[in-house]
Amino acid sequence: MKIIRSETYKDMARKAANIISAQVIMKPNCVLGLATGSTPIGIYEQLIDWYRKGDLDFSEVTTINLDEYCGLARNNPQSYCSFMHNQFFDSVNIRPEHIHLPDGTNLNAKEECERYDQLIAKIGGVDLQLLGIGLDGHIGFNEPGSAFELGTHCVELTSSTIEANARFFSDSGEVPRKAYTMGIRTIMQAHKVLLVVNGKNKAEIVKRAFFGSVTPQVPASILQMHPDFTLIGDAEALAYV
Ligand code: GLP
Repeated sequence: MKIIRSETYKDMARKAANIISAQVIMKPNCVLGLATGSTPIGIYEQLIDWYRKGDLDFSEVTTINLDEYCGLARNNPQSYCSFMHNQFFDSVNIRPEHIHLPDGTNLNAKEECERYDQLIAKIGGVDLQLLGIGLDGHIGFNEPGSAFELGTHCVELTSSTIEANARFFSDSGEVPRKAYTMGIRTIMQAHKVLLVVNGKNKAEIVKRAFFGSVTPQVPASILQMHPDFTLIGDAEALAYV
């Protein structure tokens, strides 16, 4: 595990964007595993800026997102599909056919999860997986107690996650209770994993996840075992390490 300390959120985002851009430059047809949440927004802004300046080209890149809410249409403003288009895809030259997210409108969970796992295999797996971390240590939507060996699956979100994500909805009652998520097995099979974290409310979970024991109760803790895992945190999030 490699830890990169940043003073500020902006610096954290820039360092993470540097690693992603190095991946794209070294392997233009790479597969990027992408994440939602507020933490990666600054990374996407930085990548867009470098793209506009002509320093980055996404025309051969394939993306595969970690997760999606069940039951939300792709064009629902709260769907992760909308988030990714608004924050990143619509501002760079990535080809629409190279963009992949779980389909939250397919309520046949078995079929959708199998489709996503087959798709990940078909595109050759993930070269670089970007992750955030939830307050309870979840990655993607792999909540505490998730088996490490799972592929894509449908999860019941915990009340802590529903509460944390309620800020993106007008009412917490609107937050979907279920989501499709790439499993930890798939995340662990990525060649490189990059987790970004900022803010003092994440300091405690950072300590538990990366400096405590590896346990399904803290899903992100398994990343300690990944051969190429980089953690980039701002000063507040890394306050206890
Ligand atoms: C959601 C996403 C995760 C993300 C987490 C933290 O639950 N499914 O991928 O890491 O939120 O989000 P934030 O970065 O806003 O704290």
